[in-house]
Amino acid sequence: MAMLRAATRLSRAFRTNSIFESHASPLSLSSVKRLDLRCLLSTAAEAVAEPIKPDISISLTKLLIDGKFVDAASGKTFPTIDPRTEEIIAHVAEGDVEDVNRAVKAARRAFDKGPWPKMTPYERSKILLRFADLIDKHSDELATLESLDSGKTYQQSRYAEIPTMARLFRYYAGWADKIHGLTVPADGPHSVQILHEPIGVAGQIIPWNFPLLMFSWKVGPALACGNTIVLKTAEQTPLSALLAGKLLYEAGLPEGVLNIISGYGHTAGAAISSHMDIDKLAFTGSTEVGKIVSQAAAASNLKPVTLELGGKSPFIIAEDANIDHAVEVAHFALFFNQGQCCCAGSRTFVHESIYDEFLEKAKARALKRVVGDPFQNGVEQGPQVSDEQFDKVLGYIKIGQEEGARLLTGGDRFGQKGYYIKPTIFADVQDGMRISREEIFGPVQAITKYKTLSEVIQRANDTTYGLAAGVFSKNIDTVNTLSRALRVGTVWVNCYDVFDAAIPFGGYKMSGHGREKGIYSLNNYLQVKAVVTSIKDPAWL
Ligand code: NAI
Ligand code: MG
Repeated sequence: MAMLRAATRLSRAFRTNSIFESHASPLSLSSVKRLDLRCLLSTAAEAVAEPIKPDISISLTKLLIDGKFVDAASGKTFPTIDPRTEEIIAHVAEGDVEDVNRAVKAARRAFDKGPWPKMTPYERSKILLRFADLIDKHSDELATLESLDSGKTYQQSRYAEIPTMARLFRYYAGWADKIHGLTVPADGPHSVQILHEPIGVAGQIIPWNFPLLMFSWKVGPALACGNTIVLKTAEQTPLSALLAGKLLYEAGLPEGVLNIISGYGHTAGAAISSHMDIDKLAFTGSTEVGKIVSQAAAASNLKPVTLELGGKSPFIIAEDANIDHAVEVAHFALFFNQGQCCCAGSRTFVHESIYDEFLEKAKARALKRVVGDPFQNGVEQGPQVSDEQFDKVLGYIKIGQEEGARLLTGGDRFGQKGYYIKPTIFADVQDGMRISREEIFGPVQAITKYKTLSEVIQRANDTTYGLAAGVFSKNIDTVNTLSRALRVGTVWVNCYDVFDAAIPFGGYKMSGHGREKGIYSLNNYLQVKAVVTSIKDPAWL
């Protein structure tokens, strides 16, 4: 019963903006105590019990090209790793240039000759709706693959991310038959139609932190607009998208419309971004690789590029804030998904009048955070996704100590096996420190003190990034001033990480360009064509 309530709240949290309520209540230690504690870890007892064996057999490991699962042309495979155990889950076909070429050929044919762009938008919409129903039906399996491959908690996958995925496809199914152009007046005897056409073959490269949500944000709008796709998953998390792809074909997608390549960035990813026959590129990942794919896109066929990149998002807590609430939401804003969020609230600015109390409570909350096997009910934090990320985060913790930031709690690995890291907090962080300027992408909260509104605006904007910000205040003037002054794509006020399908998401500055989700994402996948027809002897202009 307790779990059912927890699950319902977690799912509701993604529909409403009460993430705080959902994360404070169901996953608090008091509710955890009522659950099975066999494999729970706590910072006091640092030992991982035998990992839970999820009930799943891995059957989809090949590339999905032209509606069929096929081996890589080279015959090569690569291992995907369980971040809990550091052991191999499965060997997956390793796509490379030749496979990308095959996939583009299939997608090209499906676009130029296939039924997909010619299908009525209503028919396309029905396929997307059937797919959403199949997501619901297979949500246990999708969530299991997602958590096994990435280390995120099963509860989060099953009750928040998979329902959000289904919701997103229903949202874009709703758009499919509402995409239309205009007729516009002309100065002479001309009839002018503005057509909104699909752009063609979309290349999409996604990361590992939210594999299925990133799949959805890219595939949903591209399909609603009538495009075909070559998508590359991240090498750390190839499994769940293959099942999603299979279900899309089961829902009635014509052959070749969606092709999925598992493989590495410098090979398969590079082949996509530089391909001459791909008409559009969408990328989510690091700023560094965002620059590389943009250059490749420009140097090949000048395909337009949308980028969702990194961030160093400020979370600003004003003097009038309810401290307990602010502590909880600031905790969630940073530690959610093991801190592996592009929009993580990774610079916590606290007004000086409440700073000491905030630090004390933030530390207590981090100490209570339940770290452990992501398949265990009640666990809030699983392992980081990979050894590379684990090393990177521990590296930044060391840098923070060397730079002189005050380590309040954590600072080390958790347990002896798996990529677990203790929830870590630095206080008195100075703006010039690397832990305040660079994306850590892990469970490391950096807290700093401010005095005035104008000071915090200047400091919050003093970054190369501009993805998101959190504002915590009950004063409407403070909220209005901050939300307009912050140079970021999303401002969450008295909430954080609210990701409804209709809300556009994207960055200012080096956090990228273009927006995903909502009506704005459709523009990324449409061409605009003006058809100007001379009219003989018009009755009116
Ligand atoms: P990454 O940017 O290398 O990987 C993202 C995607 O790009 C993956 O599918 C990867 O295979 C692909 N890729 C890599 N090199 C490529 C290339 N030369 N051409 C085409 N595609 C390429 O990110 P990585 O190495 O996994 O993580 C490094 C850091 O990036 C993280 O620590 C984090 O700071 C940031 N990051 C940000 C994400 C976001 O959501 N904005 C997601 C993942 C990572
Ligand atoms: Mg990389």
